[in-house]
Amino acid sequence: MTAELPSMTPERLPPTVAWRGGDEGHLALLDQTRLPHERVVLRIENLDSCIDAIRRLAVRGAPAIGVAAAYGLLLGVRNARPEGRAFLETARECAVRLAAARPTAVNLQWALDRCLQALHETPNLARLRAEADAIFAEDVTSCRRIGEYGRHLVPANGTVLTHCNTGRLATAGDGTALSVLFAAWRMGTRFAVLCDETRPLLQGARLTALELAAEGIPAQVLCDGAAAGIIARGLVKMVIVGADRIARNGDFANKVGTYPVALACAAHRVPFYVAAPRSTFDAQLADGAAIPIEERDASEVLELFGQRMVCPGVGARNPAFDVTPSALVRGFVTDHGLLQPPFGPAIKAMFGVGR
Ligand code: MRU
Repeated sequence: MTAELPSMTPERLPPTVAWRGGDEGHLALLDQTRLPHERVVLRIENLDSCIDAIRRLAVRGAPAIGVAAAYGLLLGVRNARPEGRAFLETARECAVRLAAARPTAVNLQWALDRCLQALHETPNLARLRAEADAIFAEDVTSCRRIGEYGRHLVPANGTVLTHCNTGRLATAGDGTALSVLFAAWRMGTRFAVLCDETRPLLQGARLTALELAAEGIPAQVLCDGAAAGIIARGLVKMVIVGADRIARNGDFANKVGTYPVALACAAHRVPFYVAAPRSTFDAQLADGAAIPIEERDASEVLELFGQRMVCPGVGARNPAFDVTPSALVRGFVTDHGLLQPPFGPAIKAMFGVGR
């Protein structure tokens, strides 16, 4: 683990996720639980540490955990050094453990399935490393394409609201919803951003605000509960969020608190967009009802900075995600273009298109 000087300043951050070294190398993860105060890069050398980093959100955001899991699988198989038929079996066991770390973001399972498929054809470490590197590189490209397809949607001189963190800290590249905002800003469009603080783990306040400030984009944080009232007052021209899993009809799961924002947008006719790569679409699911929702430890809600805020004897519910029906979505900005209603056929057509 390497720690740099404590810093809240929004300079460029170390990479979110990176493989360092050759075949005997390690996974380097920027520990997001320490942001914005400290830059700590974790040296991940085995499967258990990778699972732990994903579980406790040291690495987070759907695409980033997919990339981290692919390298985590490489570490798990490399350290076990299986031979012959045991190779694939070991990989499958490691993949099952990694996939269970966070159940909602489909990118995690998608990345592991891709690695297992590659190993099925060529069961060796070099092939696994190549697949993990490809997943990383494709995510960088996907983020760039999302930015290009979405940047024209951003209203000049307006205010955009976003929820959770969907930027460089959530992907291997520029992000999803934030990639759209970064690309619009680079193109010369000027706007301001309201970041929902994103209870209980404050990804909006700690991470999104940091990324926007680093880019020079005017940003303000607001309590999650303030979003609907601000939208009702006509102060928001557009909302754009990310997604963790999108069903075939366009229903999608994203960080808890997304659904109320979408409802407020529908009530007040504010365009509500979702930005996500094709790897976040789950072709297996007809609609959002079957999306598994991660329930996290109650302590994340009951405590603030390690101190309990709720009297003894009272517990908490802590669903990490909610599901927004596709009827509330104006469009999906994907790495394959902007999808507009009706979403069923649009999503089906996207799956029919090669890369
Ligand atoms: O619990 P997190 O921080 O992993 O949740 C992240 C989100 O909900 C993001 O909006 C989503 O993963 C899209 S990130 C590009």
